[in-house]
Amino acid sequence: MKIFTTKAAVSQYLSPIKASGKTVGFVPTMGALHQGHLSLIELAQQHNDVIICSVFVNPSQFNDPKDLEKYPRTIEADIKLLEQVNCDILFNPGVNEMYDDNEQWHLNIGETEHLLEGEFRPGHYQGVTQVVYKLFNIVKPDAAYFGQKDYQQFLIISKMVDMLNMPVKMVMCPIKRETDGLAMSSRNIHLSVDDRLHALVLSKTLDFIKDKFDSHDISALKEEAAQLINAEPGVELDYFEIADGETLHTATPDSEKIVALVAAKVGKTRLIDNVMLKS
Ligand code: PAF
Repeated sequence: MKIFTTKAAVSQYLSPIKASGKTVGFVPTMGALHQGHLSLIELAQQHNDVIICSVFVNPSQFNDPKDLEKYPRTIEADIKLLEQVNCDILFNPGVNEMYDDNEQWHLNIGETEHLLEGEFRPGHYQGVTQVVYKLFNIVKPDAAYFGQKDYQQFLIISKMVDMLNMPVKMVMCPIKRETDGLAMSSRNIHLSVDDRLHALVLSKTLDFIKDKFDSHDISALKEEAAQLINAEPGVELDYFEIADGETLHTATPDSEKIVALVAAKVGKTRLIDNVMLKS
């Protein structure tokens, strides 16, 4: 695997590859890679000639400096995993390579930015769009692969791609779960043994709601889900929403796509998860 730390070097390497007509699949990550990330790479490999993964813990998307500081950084292990799955290129820049001092960014992505995650992590999606815009411009991929676990992120980046006419195909990949149902996440590393058990209430509640789902009874279902989660020790619910899959407002019987989304703190670790109820 080729490893690059500068924008110039990675662009220079990719340029003749693209000129020769080969397709480039891109998997942007913040590292601490797990099977979920590897499944994105494997999917990208099925549809592209060359695969590039980026590992960059992007400071501009963290509204809490403590969260940024404790975000897991495991680059040696990440490199080993990427080599095991035959990823072709790793782009692993430092913060100074990606940002100039006092750089400003604001993209008007509409109200979706302020709902759900946006309410609990103000500014988060400005940071996400800022870095993904930069990464797309450096890598110029044909297709980019993101996990469904960050459903709102996928919607917002897709909106940016449409608004700015970026020639990138956005691909959403299924959530990877541990055998007991917990959604894989780089943050799971921080869960204590007890937290790990309590965290299961999230996927169990999503499964329960999926089994009972009826689009005419959304507020009762949301209430039931919130009660189940609030009853779990060590778990503090941020939101449980049954949302229209496009607008992320509470779904209505007319919604064509419906998704249940949850976010909660389990111990000190904030986790998110979701499941499609209608697609
Ligand atoms: O999903 C992530 O890991 C990050 O938000 C992303 C898309 C790599 C941007 O930093």
